[in-house]
Amino acid sequence: MSERWTPESWRSKPVLQVPDYPDAKALADVEAQLATFPPLVFAGEARNLKKSLARVAAGEAFLLQGGDCAESFAEHGANNIRDFFRVLLQMAVVLTYAGALPVVKVGRVAGQFAKPRSSPTEKKDGIELPSYRGDIVNDAAFTAEARVPDPRRQLMAYRQSAATLNLLRAFATGGFANLGSVHQWMLGFLKDSQQSRRYKELADRISDALNFMRACGLDLESHPELRATDFYTSHEALLLGYEQAFTRVDSTTGDWYATSGHMLWIGDRTRQLDHGHVEYFRGIRNPIGLKCGPSLKPDELLKLIDILNPENEPGRLTLINRFGADKVAEHLPHLIRAVKREGKVVVWSCDPMHGNTITSTTGYKTRPFDRILSEVKTFFAVHAAEGTHPGGVHLEMTGQNVTECIGGARAITDEDLNDRYHTACDPRLNAEQSIDMAFLIAELLKNERDGKVKPIPAVAGF
Ligand code: PEP
Ligand code: CO
Repeated sequence: MSERWTPESWRSKPVLQVPDYPDAKALADVEAQLATFPPLVFAGEARNLKKSLARVAAGEAFLLQGGDCAESFAEHGANNIRDFFRVLLQMAVVLTYAGALPVVKVGRVAGQFAKPRSSPTEKKDGIELPSYRGDIVNDAAFTAEARVPDPRRQLMAYRQSAATLNLLRAFATGGFANLGSVHQWMLGFLKDSQQSRRYKELADRISDALNFMRACGLDLESHPELRATDFYTSHEALLLGYEQAFTRVDSTTGDWYATSGHMLWIGDRTRQLDHGHVEYFRGIRNPIGLKCGPSLKPDELLKLIDILNPENEPGRLTLINRFGADKVAEHLPHLIRAVKREGKVVVWSCDPMHGNTITSTTGYKTRPFDRILSEVKTFFAVHAAEGTHPGGVHLEMTGQNVTECIGGARAITDEDLNDRYHTACDPRLNAEQSIDMAFLIAELLKNERDGKVKPIPAVAGF
């Protein structure tokens, strides 16, 4: 791996999960055009996120990363973006308040389009077609034409990402995220729920605290940290041609940065040591994530860390664990011990979604809320036992009132899934389930802070 890196050096390596574009010239034209487009993010912002993640690695902050499994062209709209953002803000407030730790907010948004698939084809009623690979590649409709990869979709994904990011930046800095608006972030359809009562209580306490500080003579308007928030974007950098087009030299440092999002991650299916994705990632200076599933051995992880973070830079690498509720207690301790033994600095984050997908009795891909929670709890318990910081969570979630994951406070059943099952790919926590999850994680964070080590629960009972 000591060969010279360039934004296109990944092209000389094997690459998995690449779409089969029928027209190579059309693809090359689109990539050339993308390379002339303005970047979506600045290198300085990516560096700020890296600094914040370094604080997470040091146990001084918590990472909240969440959003759609896959953004879609059809669901692109202001209401969706606003509702997602306010649920994420609500979750962050809950976590900050209970955990008494700063929360680093990163969306799976404004670029989360390309999807790795377990199988290159999909069969329905005896017909076999290429799999849907995300709106940036092809269309989800089950017809032969829809499934042909079309490079022009990359231009649409870029435009949508730019528009989404523009609104998110406005929300984050333009007053919407003002802590004084903590009550206004509640969503209408949550008003009669237990979560909203709990949230309102917490919002009341925050308002009281702000009023108290004001009464003491503090000018809260002069504190930007109360009026605005830092919000970052992330996605799986699967489509390397697209990523290459947005890989630019930062004029202040002379370093290469991916400018399609602040943080990019490598999926669990594309993390082979000698393949194109790892090659691409080693050359960009953004903070990056690496999905770690049950097949990842400690030795292989250490090799990946050497390639991806040779200088052991804090905040550079987030290990996003996604083992499954029944496997996390078995796998995670080995990885933690290897990383600790070698003195590597990483952020440990828990993705309790991707190892807990099942098919409902009604035929939907779903995730039981209890299993998701069980993986998070075990993640915290393992870290407590190993003396390491459970640095964050990585969730698939939406601000909408969908019915995609079963269970939760409203006990969504297999039969309910049909009501509002809208995801373009994997099932997401709905707004209520997301806030519920934030309260439950906040309790775990509080226990961690208070040094209340809970024993690792026996491997979950299913
Ligand atoms: C994802 O995050 O949507 C995903 C596909 O995850 P993983 O690579 O962990 O399967
Ligand atoms: Co997913």
